[in-house]
Amino acid sequence: MTENILDFRSDTFTKPSPGMRKAMAEAEVGDDVFGEDPTVRALEQKTAELFGKQAAVFVPSGTMANLIGLAVHCARGDEVIMERRTHSFAHEVGGGAALLGVLFNTVDSSSGYILPEHIDMAVRKKDVHQPISKLVVVENTANLVGGKIVPFDTITALRKKTDEYQMRFHMDGARIWHASTATGVPLHRWASKTHSLSCCLSKGLGCPVGSLVISDSQTVDLARWYRKMLGGGMRQAGVIAACGLYALEHNLPRLHEDHEMAAELAHEFTKVLPEGFQVQAPDTNMVVVNTPDESTCQQTIANWEKMGILCFAVSKTSIRMVTHMDLPPDAAKQAARRIAKAGNGS
Ligand SMILES: Cc1ncc(COP(=O)(O)O)c(C=O)c1O
Repeated sequence: MTENILDFRSDTFTKPSPGMRKAMAEAEVGDDVFGEDPTVRALEQKTAELFGKQAAVFVPSGTMANLIGLAVHCARGDEVIMERRTHSFAHEVGGGAALLGVLFNTVDSSSGYILPEHIDMAVRKKDVHQPISKLVVVENTANLVGGKIVPFDTITALRKKTDEYQMRFHMDGARIWHASTATGVPLHRWASKTHSLSCCLSKGLGCPVGSLVISDSQTVDLARWYRKMLGGGMRQAGVIAACGLYALEHNLPRLHEDHEMAAELAHEFTKVLPEGFQVQAPDTNMVVVNTPDESTCQQTIANWEKMGILCFAVSKTSIRMVTHMDLPPDAAKQAARRIAKAGNGS
């Protein structure tokens, strides 16, 4: 293989740009465990403002942010309800169960995200035999179903439903940037429907690391406590918080380009893939290709890898391709050309 690699595996594979590295080098720092890092504080303040909430806390990863999201709302034995493919349940090592004693109650939704009627079905009666249903988690955008946007009206209805049951509502907003960019609904409006949310700087915004938990001041105080307990208290973290500040200024405004590339990729792939393959129209920066069966799925990923096209399977029969800022501008066309040239489409 001589052609350049087109890495569609995830938007987490981006590397910090020269401008971002410069911002890191020049960051003012202090000991953040003592609240003395001005760059971390600036990032937390800026993020809280963007999301229209009282406070935010900088944490190393989305996994820790979501775990803290469970911790601040749930006591041991409390139940959290979410869709089966939600990252917190599917890909966060069962941390909520292992470390917090939280019970996961998952629902299956054809859309890939939870709807109010699923809460009606899953919620427990107040009864001495039952755990307490305390929290609903929604992921927006929904990664494993191809970066789908949970519509704002659905988020509003979910919040109404959680209020009805006196439950709390946490959003895994790792890619809430994408939902906001695609819909034009500002970040603070999404956040206004939640009790807490997480966001990731390392997914689509080009940062090497970093997430935040965003909520009211009291909840964020508690979140800081859990962050320290989980080993996430960081010292001169301004060097990485600087990436976040840089990304919010320079990379967030360009996110629509990734969505445009995903739309182009879907369009191009529809033309070159053989019968039996079906390309899902993307909402944001992910394209899902459904393949006829399990072995075709695996074979296709292996064949494409030989052509320098990298991607992951997100189910036994579907492939996910993620667009991001480190791909060349003509990546969609290049990928389609390579597949077409191979002859059999896959
Ligand atoms: C939707 C979503 N939430 C949370 C995470 C976890 O983030 P991290 O890898 O920073 O722990 C991911 C990671 O890909 C994700 O896609």
